[in-house]
Amino acid sequence: MMNLKNSNILVTGGTGFVGSHLVEELVGQDANVVTTFLTTNPLSYFFTQKLNKKVSMAHIDVCDFDAVFDLITKSRIDYIFHLAAQPLVETAFYNPKQTLYTNIIGIINVLESARLFPKVMGVIVASSDKAYGKLQNKKYLETDPLKGNHPYEVSKSSADLIAYSYYKTYNLPVVITRFGNIYGEGDLNFSRIIPGIMKSLITHEALEIRSNGKYIRDYLYVKDVVNGYILLAQHFEKIKGEAFNFGSTDTLSVLEVIKLFEKKLNKKISFKVLNTAKNEIPYQSLNYSKIMRLGWKPKHTFNSTILNIYKWYKKYYS
Ligand SMILES: NC(=O)c1ccc[n+]([C@@H]2O[C@H](COP(=O)([O-])OP(=O)(O)OC[C@H]3O[C@@H](n4cnc5c(N)ncnc54)[C@H](O)[C@@H]3O)[C@@H](O)[C@H]2O)c1
Repeated sequence: MMNLKNSNILVTGGTGFVGSHLVEELVGQDANVVTTFLTTNPLSYFFTQKLNKKVSMAHIDVCDFDAVFDLITKSRIDYIFHLAAQPLVETAFYNPKQTLYTNIIGIINVLESARLFPKVMGVIVASSDKAYGKLQNKKYLETDPLKGNHPYEVSKSSADLIAYSYYKTYNLPVVITRFGNIYGEGDLNFSRIIPGIMKSLITHEALEIRSNGKYIRDYLYVKDVVNGYILLAQHFEKIKGEAFNFGSTDTLSVLEVIKLFEKKLNKKISFKVLNTAKNEIPYQSLNYSKIMRLGWKPKHTFNSTILNIYKWYKKYYS
């Protein structure tokens, strides 16, 4: 078991959406947290929760090996959660080189630093359901092949395989997470559907839907994701080299999500279906029985979280 209390933990991308919720939990468990950052936003979850006062922050690009290695050795890091990435499918489409570079070189630098600095006892890697690429209308299993087709997917398939190779070849203690679509307070990536809906509700701009609105995904609340990361950390010793899917019971199309938000908030969402996203996967849903056997299941749904999320974004926009 990872002993989080008083351990030196590096969270790459710790000021981002998922990273900031994870950092908040780790700090709450008395870990000494170090996070990398590229930019700062005073309105982000990280700053509004004042996490900047509770962690060490290093202005580091994960593509810079010397900087990553220096940070890990000088901070005497015990465990790493690697979340830093270019995480947007649309951005990847328009800028494949930067996405592939960040998502692949970033993980190589983290794993290679951990290999050379054996004080590191564990690396938990953020992969994604996208790493699998397109499978025909079936629930994805951890044993399915990693065969992304498009740049974002391939960046994640590659990072996932590279992480596994460091385990298999060098016995580096690595665990891999594959999450569906994560939502919650603090996601400032407004090209994603939930932040997009929130923006449209608050600013009254029409929401632009890139797909035909029928694409289906598992939607996972960010606190369930954090619980998943912590559970993996707690079971780390017996799950090295393994990958885990994290799905949910909110397996919905974009149009169904919009309807649900309209009903729950009793408001109309104006939207345009652009139908331009030809290179996205129509159906993705994860079989998550493997992680359920470790004791995880999603505790939240849209129904139990929408109101608070809406409040968060209202405050953000005010
Ligand atoms: N949000 C989701 O739906 C979802 C689903 C599955 C997997 N993931 C993965 O989870 C991780 C976190 O995603 P998120 O939703 O919090 O995104 P985010 O954009 O909020 O956070 C990513 C962070 O990485 C940082 N970053 C980007 N490039 C960097 C670089 N070169 N050096 C250092 N930092 C860099 C960004 O500044 C940002 O703070 C990503 O790896 C993403 O692929 C996200």
